[in-house]
Amino acid sequence: MSLFRKKSLNVLLSQAADSEKGLKKTLGAVNLVALGIGAIIGAGLFVRTAAAAGQAAGPGVTLSFIVAAVGCAFAGLCYAEFAAMIPIAGSAYAYSYVTMGELVAWIIGWALIMEYALGAATVSIAWSEYLNKLFDGRIPYEWCHSPFESFTDSTGVTHAGIMNAPALVILLLLTLLLIKGTQESAFVNAIIVFIKVAIVILFIALGWQFIKPENHTPYFIPEGTPAVVDQAGKVIADYSGWNKHGWGGILGGAAIVFFAFIGFDAVSTAAQEAKNPKRDMPIGILGSLVVCTILYILFGHVLTGVANWQDFVDPEKGREASVAYAISTYMTGYSWLSTAVTVAILAGFSSVILVMLMGQSRIFYTMSNDGLIPKAFGDLHPKFQTPYKANWILFVFVGAFAAFVPGHLAGDLTSFGTLFAFVLVSAGVWIMRKKEPNTERPFKTPLVPVVSTLGVLICTAMIIGLDTQTLLVAFGWMAIGLVVYFLYSKKNSKLNK
Ligand code: ALA
Repeated sequence: MSLFRKKSLNVLLSQAADSEKGLKKTLGAVNLVALGIGAIIGAGLFVRTAAAAGQAAGPGVTLSFIVAAVGCAFAGLCYAEFAAMIPIAGSAYAYSYVTMGELVAWIIGWALIMEYALGAATVSIAWSEYLNKLFDGRIPYEWCHSPFESFTDSTGVTHAGIMNAPALVILLLLTLLLIKGTQESAFVNAIIVFIKVAIVILFIALGWQFIKPENHTPYFIPEGTPAVVDQAGKVIADYSGWNKHGWGGILGGAAIVFFAFIGFDAVSTAAQEAKNPKRDMPIGILGSLVVCTILYILFGHVLTGVANWQDFVDPEKGREASVAYAISTYMTGYSWLSTAVTVAILAGFSSVILVMLMGQSRIFYTMSNDGLIPKAFGDLHPKFQTPYKANWILFVFVGAFAAFVPGHLAGDLTSFGTLFAFVLVSAGVWIMRKKEPNTERPFKTPLVPVVSTLGVLICTAMIIGLDTQTLLVAFGWMAIGLVVYFLYSKKNSKLNK
């Protein structure tokens, strides 16, 4: 029995056609762009812009955004071809099953858990940071940080995390909402997107006048910048690595802010509910990407102009809740904006978590229908018609990460999972062109194989730009995935029958 057995494209297309009868096709192009933006703008922008500036790119984080956007654009063009051609939930996992066979599909499904589940965990950790900011830091450090984090304040007292309780609470609330139903989601999402985008534009417009040109000089972190240590002498930022200063730092920064773009691919998991997927999938995927890229570059420019990038390293300055910090510290007269931003960010993060949890449950649903994971993941609630068991299992898994793992590690693992999926989707487009040249393609990725090859190369470069620690954990995760595949999935695959 081959590890590379494939699902036939015709079977998949007929499945998509079948589900057309079952699932309501309610989403138009505008809804899909809104869904994309709902999933895209979140912790990546509001938290990681400052992290990338402080740890690797300095003010050059704008260039990091461009590098990450270019990588995403190539992958996005490839996603658009697949999503219009095979409008079925399951996204990259389903496309790989047809193009590269079961083992690769499994690997990508396993990597997508890193994207969606850990993405939800990361954003819930960021949600907790901002909630604490809203409460003026009154949540004890111990109860809003993982056990792997500690910091020594200026009085010499060391605080060690126990668990991130607020992150767990928001995950629980959103899980309950997801189980209850998804119909209202598009509406709630649209309202949140409106607030979120309005706040980003407001920050850019109002912050522009507070930009200090000296904060943008030099534009890169200079070679030889000394490491930053906290009061206890623990190193909290080290600029000696190739990807921590200069042009290398731009690439390192791109790997960090790449997280901010994650989510446009979640549009593809809604393909089955699109009214006219052939036309609207490419619009939804590429449209949300374009809007966000423009906003991100402007946002990074303003943020690193208002506050100096070095502020974003110091735990007692802008290392956490950086945007609110920049406003309240440097934008005199706009303290109301700081509170408005914090509330909008909390709402915005909730929509990201919601779409991520939803995306993950759909991937689980598809994998379970294929027999690769237990049937429970595909069971629907008798009344609400939602995959409630998958939602609960997901809550336990995501909650454990959110409560006990530091945000940056979960975030980088999310980027790894996503980039890995992008590499395979980009490669898949080309493979599919060779193997199934005659299948109807409502949207064609331009300049294949150039675009698909560049997608593979840039996304691979961003994977290499990730921390060694992240890569080790990611490979560990993938190794566990292979064990699960050989012990369970291979035997239980529906393709055996
Ligand atoms: N792009 C999403 C965010 O930044 C995951 O929160």
